[in-house]
Amino acid sequence: MNNTIYFFSGTGNSLKIARDLAEKLENTELMPIAKLWQKRSIESISEKIGFIFPLYYSGLPKIVHDFIDKLNISRTNYVFTVVTSTGDINEQSLQQWDKLLKKKSKKLNAGFYVNMPNNYIIGFNVHSKERQKEFFENAIKQIKNMSEIINNQEDNITQEILEKDVSRSAKINKNFRDSVNESDKAFTVSENCNSCGICENVCPVDNIILISGIPEWQHKCQQCLACINFCPEKAIQYGKQTQKTQRYHHPEISIEEIAKQK
Ligand SMILES: Cc1cc2nc3c(=O)[nH]c(=O)nc-3n(C[C@H](O)[C@H](O)[C@H](O)COP(=O)(O)O)c2cc1C
Ligand code: SF4
Ligand code: SF4
Repeated sequence: MNNTIYFFSGTGNSLKIARDLAEKLENTELMPIAKLWQKRSIESISEKIGFIFPLYYSGLPKIVHDFIDKLNISRTNYVFTVVTSTGDINEQSLQQWDKLLKKKSKKLNAGFYVNMPNNYIIGFNVHSKERQKEFFENAIKQIKNMSEIINNQEDNITQEILEKDVSRSAKINKNFRDSVNESDKAFTVSENCNSCGICENVCPVDNIILISGIPEWQHKCQQCLACINFCPEKAIQYGKQTQKTQRYHHPEISIEEIAKQK
């Protein structure tokens, strides 16, 4: 394959964007980061590569950050990224990419943000169905524009993007990555649990084991929130906040597709 898109997705937004974009690019394969990230080193043989993932605390998810460190991209000559988020963004994630790529003597050629529905239900409630529909419709339009830029190998990263002061966001994201593995200590399970095993299945990093039919978290969490959002019984809570919030996953992405990432 000439092109590879590496993706990570907890609740399907980033997977949906990755799938739709791949269809519009020439010769492109989708590669789940969750399948590769534990290997000691990974080599990409593609000339053009992309990274598609959700924004976490103003920057990269830990798993994505760890992955790029291990990836050998010496044969690549064009790198793009698509960051899905609820729109609470600045240029920190693009700067983060550019810095990580410079260590490999590469640069970020193109970067895009796509606004998608909220899955951070441990902080805020989900968007209304109408608002979700608007996000999906706008994303379709954006994918067409992105694919033209990427197919033509155009650059869209300006000096202004790279020089903006994002030090506060950089700190927030670093603190998040440093503490995220143990953040699962706040998960609890109610008596509604029917031992279906969906939470164990969708966890992209095998952080959940069912013991006597009840999920237990293993403290290597990425806080993707797949487990809590996909539980069909709403049996998982995170502190007190999630008793008040609804659950979200992308309507066109199934449990099986999320589980297949690893
Ligand atoms: C741990 C976590 C942190 C998040 N932080 C942000 C953020 O800083 N800004 C933002 O706009 N959205 C944030 N979000 C929302 C997600 O980026 C957004 O819903 C994304 O599209 C989810 O993608 P996925 O379905 O592929 O997992 C966060 C979500 C999670 C789970
Ligand atoms: S997904 Fe929900 S109901 Fe199923 S095993 Fe996990 S906690 Fe229990
Ligand atoms: S335990 Fe839940 S939140 Fe943590 S990585 Fe697994 S699915 Fe994501």
